[in-house]
Amino acid sequence: MTKIAAITGAASGIGKAATARLLDAGWTVYGLDIRQPAALPQYQDRFKPIQCDVSDAASVTQTFAAMGTTLNALICCAGVLRTGLMENMAIDDFDLVLNINTRGTFLCAQKALPLLRAGVTPDNPARVILLSSLAALRPKIVSGAYAASKAAVTQLTRVMAAEWAPSGVLVNALAPGTVDTPMVRAVSDPTASKGYRPSGVSPVGRIAQPDDVVDVMMFLLSDAARYIAGTTIPVDGGTGAAFIPPG
Ligand SMILES: NC(=O)c1ccc[n+]([C@@H]2O[C@H](COP(=O)([O-])OP(=O)(O)OC[C@H]3O[C@@H](n4cnc5c(N)ncnc54)[C@H](O)[C@@H]3O)[C@@H](O)[C@H]2O)c1
Repeated sequence: MTKIAAITGAASGIGKAATARLLDAGWTVYGLDIRQPAALPQYQDRFKPIQCDVSDAASVTQTFAAMGTTLNALICCAGVLRTGLMENMAIDDFDLVLNINTRGTFLCAQKALPLLRAGVTPDNPARVILLSSLAALRPKIVSGAYAASKAAVTQLTRVMAAEWAPSGVLVNALAPGTVDTPMVRAVSDPTASKGYRPSGVSPVGRIAQPDDVVDVMMFLLSDAARYIAGTTIPVDGGTGAAFIPPG
């Protein structure tokens, strides 16, 4: 039987790559994004694009209530990055980052939970994969709100995992370093990004592609990950392992 996932942030970057990979692997995917995700004619029977603002409780509640399905997985990729020094960061930007990255992740997980629990079998725990960030483990200047929002996701991961594993729902998070997506491309000019600098090339010798992250998602969705819960797995090519002096 086809497995069913809901993926937020499905219109771009990591969420878009995850959507493509799960569809290729035979899953049915509900693709949620604040921008209506483009239809995929080759998967029209298994891809369900839905416009949804993850930071809006009514929108999230209505979206999951209307799905009328069980879920085997929830993958929360919707997120934003806004930069600025803490002394003068726009308060609206701070609120936006926390509302989408943290509140939105919480809302989606809470509203998906009944659908996930309904899909659980003794051999098949449901999976929740949240997008934290290397910023949660090692914050950088000029991105304090983002780092705080992702540190909160990592703590939510731990608590949800402990609360939900007894009912067969395994919650984990991924912590990528720099991934080549529109989010990062938008801050690649330090002037426009208020001085923020992405971590960039990792010790592996390149920036991650979305599929580097999706590969680890596929592992977390697999039977091999049936005993993993409550952890945040770095997918950073060693960027967070040790400080590399400039030059
Ligand atoms: N790219 C990186 O280097 C990197 C590193 C670590 C973590 N992450 C995290 O990975 C996730 C995916 O990031 P990405 O790089 O693919 O970014 P992206 O900008 O390419 O995609 C993010 C998607 O989220 C959607 N979105 C934004 N606000 C939303 C809302 N309120 N409701 C619904 N959808 C909304 C956007 O429309 C977009 O399609 C994010 O949570 C991000 O913080 C990214």
